[in-house]
Amino acid sequence: MGKIYDAFERHRRESKLDSEPLGVGRIEAGEGPSKPTFSPDEMVRAAKYSPKLVVVSAPDSLDAENFKILRSQIMFPKDRKRPKAIMVTSALPGEGKSFVASNLAASISLGFNENVILIDCDLRRPTLHKIFGISASQGLHEYLTGQAGFQDVVVKTGVKKLTLLAGGNPSPNPTELLASQMMEDFLVEVKERYEDRYVIVDSTPMQVTAEANVLSQYVDGIIFVILAEKAPRELIQKSIESLGKEKILGIVFNGYNQSYRGYKKYYRKYYKTKL
Ligand SMILES: Nc1ncnc2c1ncn2[C@@H]1O[C@H](COP(=O)(O)OP(=O)(O)OP(=O)(O)O)[C@@H](O)[C@H]1O
Ligand SMILES: [Mg+2]
Repeated sequence: MGKIYDAFERHRRESKLDSEPLGVGRIEAGEGPSKPTFSPDEMVRAAKYSPKLVVVSAPDSLDAENFKILRSQIMFPKDRKRPKAIMVTSALPGEGKSFVASNLAASISLGFNENVILIDCDLRRPTLHKIFGISASQGLHEYLTGQAGFQDVVVKTGVKKLTLLAGGNPSPNPTELLASQMMEDFLVEVKERYEDRYVIVDSTPMQVTAEANVLSQYVDGIIFVILAEKAPRELIQKSIESLGKEKILGIVFNGYNQSYRGYKKYYRKYYKTKL
């Protein structure tokens, strides 16, 4: 237990970025359109991010605005305690979980100057490191199997106070790893020791894997993503019932349309957050 604490402390001390100005796609709550400024170092980092990290690559876009709304709804809930550990899931594969998890995490870090750790709990096909242009030869898989220490697997993304715990190499037994005592201890410690830290967990789809159900026990709330015209209503209902309605913080309706690909242009896509 104490090991993770020590590693976090070291990480925090060594993190130069926490005290540096952000510059890349800065967003403040209640501010007008943000004007990104780039230092040479930040330009190098930002160039590595996927354009799908829209809160950084297109901070004035409708998408980025919608992530601001989502983060505010999470951070200022009307009828519950502010959740610190949040899982993102969906009924079926490819509905936009990783897209939402990464942008939400970056949006909270950028907008509220909060420490955020984004954890890739998709140990079958980890993808979050690609979004941040980070090579992830080690990650949660290696940590949970004792092949790497916490300090070796947690990386600074360069987005303000956002750190990433990548998935690492794909695991042959993801459900067992995520249901292990080590995973439980890890999440409990991260939540308890770091009250000022938001934990965003990217998970696998409910209807084809067991991991999201396991992980849901350790988080305070869940963001459920629905891709337009993908999952049938019954599967969505089944997933939400299995997670427990009271745990659902919000539903992101991801109206992604292939024909609107490309973030250089302004285009219309819709998210609805329903809390
Ligand atoms: N709103 C969106 N705008 C643009 N691209 C999107 C949007 N939503 C999803 N995508 C893209 O669609 C693809 C699938 O999304 P993503 O990887 O986030 O889904 P997922 O639910 O995490 O999938 P999996 O179940 O395989 O983990 C990715 O290339 C992602 O960048
Ligand atoms: Mg994913």
